[in-house]
Parts: sequence; structure tokens; C-alpha cells
Amino acid sequence: MTPDPPITTLRQEFAPNCIWTFTVPDHERLNAELIALIEEERRISPEGRACAGREMWQSQRQVTDDPPVRELFKSIFRAAVEVAAFLRWDVAGKKPVCKVCWANIHGKGGYHTRHIHPATIQLSGVYYAKANKACGDIIFHDLSRFLGLWAAAPSTLELTSHNRSQLPVEPQAGLGVLFPAYVMHEVAANRSEDERIGLAYNINFE
Ligand SMILES: [Fe+2]
Repeated sequence: MTPDPPITTLRQEFAPNCIWTFTVPDHERLNAELIALIEEERRISPEGRACAGREMWQSQRQVTDDPPVRELFKSIFRAAVEVAAFLRWDVAGKKPVCKVCWANIHGKGGYHTRHIHPATIQLSGVYYAKANKACGDIIFHDLSRFLGLWAAAPSTLELTSHNRSQLPVEPQAGLGVLFPAYVMHEVAANRSEDERIGLAYNINFE
């Protein structure tokens, strides 16, 4: 009996979920300024912004134009330009613009349930000014499996980027995250005694 001839499979990928992380240069100094700004903002408006589906303090005011945030965005925008180049977006003559930026504080037990960002937004992200390992991962979900549109996947021998349906990213001070605004995500509960302090933002090229 002759063995079966080898078969060659060609894999074509389309529309994979991509999450980018980056470390902001000189973040120790910058984080001290950001934390001072955010804590002052909480002192002024301790009630924060009313928000459903979350247990957290969020600034009522956008902090986009405050000096340390402006400095931070120099790095975030550089990362956004790299993302746009990787995705081959035609953004010639355009620059990344911050459409929204809020300060966030998650205390012990704080969380943010699953959500996506507005359909009119290109890139969303978070930046951590203060964080430790147990303060709650941001967890990204593949939307089709999250919605239960496909529940037939066999169990896996190991998790790879091609078989996993979710990706947790562990916060760390100085870490920035960028992702297309449609990617479903949530923030797990802060299981540490320390607050997680950071910013959330939406970016478009204009
Ligand atoms: Fe979000």
C-alpha cells in the first residue's frame, strides 16, 4: 500500500484581533506628575463621572490638555503611528488626535465590565501610571466566541494566538496599550490593596 502523498495547506489570515503594548520612556518621572494630576482631580470632584457597569472613579473632566497628559500623548501618538503603518492605513497628511481621555482610578475590588468603544473611533487604549500585578488585567475577547456564535472548538494542547479566544494583559506602571476600538474588553477586579491609576483614551487620525 502506497502512503498517502503529503498535503500542503495554505493558511490565509484575515481580520485577526491585534493588541499593541508599549513602554513610555522616562515613565517614572512622568507617572509622578500624572498621579498628582489625577489625585488632584479626584479631590476636586470625588463623586467622579457616573458610569454603569463599573466600580471605579473616573474624572468628570477630560484631561487631554493637561501638561503631563500632553507629554504622555507624544509617546502614545508615536505608537499609534506605528499601528497605522502596520495596518497599512492611508493616513498621509493626517495626525493622531486624542478624541477623549479620562483619568481612571480602580480601588480594591474595582472593575469595568465588558464593552467596546464607539464605532466612530479608530484606536482605543489605556495607560497605567500606577499598577501592580494583582490590580486587575485588561482582558480582550474575540467577539464571535464571546457572543457564543461558535462553541464547537475542541480543547487545546496549549494556548496560541490562533486558538485563544481571550488575551489578558497585565497592567504595569509605564505600560501603554492600543487596540482597534471594536475589540471587546473588560477590566478584571483589582485584587490588591493598592489603587490602579491610569488613563483611558480614544484616538482618530484626522
Ligand atoms: Fe474600554
